[in-house]
Amino acid sequence: MKGIILAGGLGTRMLPLTRITNKHLLPVYDKPMIYYPIQTLVNAGIRDILIVTGGHNAGDFLRLLGNGKKDFGLEHINYTYQEGEGGIAEALRLAEFFADQNPICVVLGDNIIEKNINQAVKNFEKQKSGAKILLQEVADPKRFGVPRLDGDKVVEIIEKPEAPPSHYAVIGIYLYDNSVFDIIKTLKPSGRGELEITDVNNAYIGRGSMTYEILDGWWTDAGTFDSLLRASNLVAKTGANNK
Ligand code: G1P
Repeated sequence: MKGIILAGGLGTRMLPLTRITNKHLLPVYDKPMIYYPIQTLVNAGIRDILIVTGGHNAGDFLRLLGNGKKDFGLEHINYTYQEGEGGIAEALRLAEFFADQNPICVVLGDNIIEKNINQAVKNFEKQKSGAKILLQEVADPKRFGVPRLDGDKVVEIIEKPEAPPSHYAVIGIYLYDNSVFDIIKTLKPSGRGELEITDVNNAYIGRGSMTYEILDGWWTDAGTFDSLLRASNLVAKTGANNK
């Protein structure tokens, strides 16, 4: 399995913090934000990692991380550059050459977890094809992709719903087989002009090949002022990426 971290975008929700740097390089307690999704992949045994970045400060990722040896014990990190702002699925499209027919674990660069995804990754390896999403109960589902559940099946995901069909958020860690790239090619831009990861997930649901698990431990994004503060407080309290 290969790992892909999506760390592009202009971070317009966080101006002026993001005027001179990329959102994923902002501090979350004692580390730059991008350190957490890298550690999530490394802890799950995924060492072949691509970072998709973009915007005006892409070179800073290389200056910060190099080939990942010092802080993560990696031999190499791969990088690619997203021109413009086409959404999460558009960024993921750039990873097709890197995935090279392998299953992938996609992590949004602003998603931080208390524990790990090791069991979900193992279960997905057994699943062989299709996709798996991870869910967590949240107080404010309207901010996220929200699943409609029917027992052990997810029947639909609605992006930022006015009337959430459950109390769960679809967190920004996704497991996909190689057909994800064919699915992306069929997508049309959403109302906000982006190729949505939720549309990718709904396509897998339509094919009957989507599974889900509930994540253990806390999860947060860090892409708004409030969630960035929350992320720092959570990391300070319990640490993140605990095995
Ligand atoms: C994105 C996804 C959403 C998901 C969230 C997790 O939202 O579109 O489905 O729940 O990440 O962080 P965005 O951060 O782009 O608003």
